[in-house]
Amino acid sequence: MADAPQHDPHAPHTPFSGRALRGALGRFGTGVTIVTCLDAAGRRVGLTANSFNALSLSPPMVLWSLRLASPSLPAFRAAGHFAINVLAEAQVHLSRRFASPVADKFAEGQWTSGEGGAPVLDGSAAVFECQAEAQHDHGDHVLFIGRVVRIAEHALPPLLFHGGHYRKLGEGV
Ligand SMILES: Cc1cc2nc3c(=O)[nH]c(=O)nc-3n(C[C@H](O)[C@H](O)[C@H](O)COP(=O)(O)O)c2cc1C
Repeated sequence: MADAPQHDPHAPHTPFSGRALRGALGRFGTGVTIVTCLDAAGRRVGLTANSFNALSLSPPMVLWSLRLASPSLPAFRAAGHFAINVLAEAQVHLSRRFASPVADKFAEGQWTSGEGGAPVLDGSAAVFECQAEAQHDHGDHVLFIGRVVRIAEHALPPLLFHGGHYRKLGEGV
């Protein structure tokens, strides 16, 4: 049975519920990243994000989005650089940690300082270090666009996310 539409007085009228939308979006399988930066006081900030995607090859640009209500938002708004750490399968515990409001997210994992001090995670499948290029507020999220200034890649099994669950890479089709 279809979900009853939710009655949020601030939401524009849509013919589907927020839950149905999240369910449909979740059918799009993705990788998982931890996006990081330094805040104005030099503290490390990061969160799990699967909204990451390629934007442009030449010049090299990538994008991701952050919900407006996130406590990490002021740091990313002000940061000159951010790093996208593409997680390997073995890093699922870090994905869970960085998707939770724990006090010191960076107490686990081996971190180094990348461009502009943005934290780079050892053992990631790939890293995209970015200069902040643009940000656009749309709906309840901010779209961040970065110009890629350094990359790293490692042949590790990736962490995947589909249907609200973490997944492993299966057989090719
Ligand atoms: C697999 C996965 C993907 C996520 N992707 C995003 C995302 O793209 N953007 C976002 O704002 N939150 C995303 N989240 C939720 C954040 O990780 C979560 O709200 C986290 O607590 C945000 O950190 P904050 O408390 O500093 O805002 C995702 C969570 C998971 C588990």
